[in-house]
Amino acid sequence: MAVGLVLATGALFWATSRTMKDQFTPRVEVDLALALATVVIAGTAATLVGAWWFTGWAVQPVSEITEQATRIEAGTLDQRIVAHADTDEYRDLVAMLNRMLERLERQFNAQRRLTADVGHELRHPLTALRGEIEVALRADRSPREYRNVLRSALEEIEHLTGMSEDLLLISRAEAHLLVLRPTQADVNAIVTRELDGLHAVVEEKDLTVDRSLAADRPATVDPALFARMVQHLLSNAVKFTPVGGRVSVATKSGPEGVRLSVQDSGPGIALADLPHVFEPFYRANSARTRGTGTGLGLAMVGAITRLHGGRIQASSADGGGARFELELPNGGSGSGPPG
Ligand SMILES: Nc1ncnc2c1ncn2[C@@H]1O[C@H](COP(=O)(O)OP(=O)(O)OP(=O)(O)O)[C@@H](O)[C@H]1O
Ligand SMILES: [Mg+2]
Repeated sequence: MAVGLVLATGALFWATSRTMKDQFTPRVEVDLALALATVVIAGTAATLVGAWWFTGWAVQPVSEITEQATRIEAGTLDQRIVAHADTDEYRDLVAMLNRMLERLERQFNAQRRLTADVGHELRHPLTALRGEIEVALRADRSPREYRNVLRSALEEIEHLTGMSEDLLLISRAEAHLLVLRPTQADVNAIVTRELDGLHAVVEEKDLTVDRSLAADRPATVDPALFARMVQHLLSNAVKFTPVGGRVSVATKSGPEGVRLSVQDSGPGIALADLPHVFEPFYRANSARTRGTGTGLGLAMVGAITRLHGGRIQASSADGGGARFELELPNGGSGSGPPG
């Protein structure tokens, strides 16, 4: 701006000196130079002051938004940015930041709940373990009694080990630290193998198992993790379905990926519980499914599904039982689920 003023003034000086060739005495020349210099200095100063004021005015909302955002910390994640939330130019920015805070708050609360749940779930088996060992040590026991205590302690330890392994797998999958090893896998063979593994319980409960295994091409999935998901979905269906009930398993494949559905004729899942069953330690509050497990199976299935870039949905089956539908895209994480 100042350079422009100097150039314009120079041009004006030159044009005036040419126009007033005869009257352009040294005195006039000095007066004109002084007048033009004053214009340049005053103009530059006014420009600088104006620019400084305008910049401050333009940046002020950003400073206010930044200041409010900076004050929000882990303990105050429920706060939202209100500065300029209704100003046309900043509405989108503030809304975007508030949506980000909402996501962070949700994640943070989930982590908090998980930590509290882990503590709660650890306390019970550890208290039982400690009680048994303390009672056993209070007096001399027979070798048989010691063996019983050790057997029971081993059961608690196995439960704890299983829980910590499940938790580790879930958190590694959520943090994308679990490396997928996708290969061409025969989905039907995996489902058949897992069903065979449940044969004894199926027989014992006199369950009817319907299979509609129509995945006619190999799917590109991590076979070990896929088998784990199938095992969890099937074992839930078998566990929650009462004696004489029915479990239906279906597979289907296409160029985009594979679909698996597991449906049962058990008590089903209440509408209010459906959105939560994939959360760690969530056990639906139904009298018929309460207290039957740790509540980590479906959280693991959900985490492995997301790692594959797939989708899983729980719903109520037509006959009243539970239905789980899993869709995995070919090729693991990143690609979309089959259409
Ligand atoms: N097929 C089903 N029928 C009815 N309820 C189900 C079914 N599958 C899951 N649920 C409900 O969802 C909850 C969470 O299931 P999830 O498999 O995560 O836990 P769990 O079976 O209780 O324990 P875990 O799998 O860790 O041994 C269950 O406690 C149960 O209330
Ligand atoms: Mg389970």
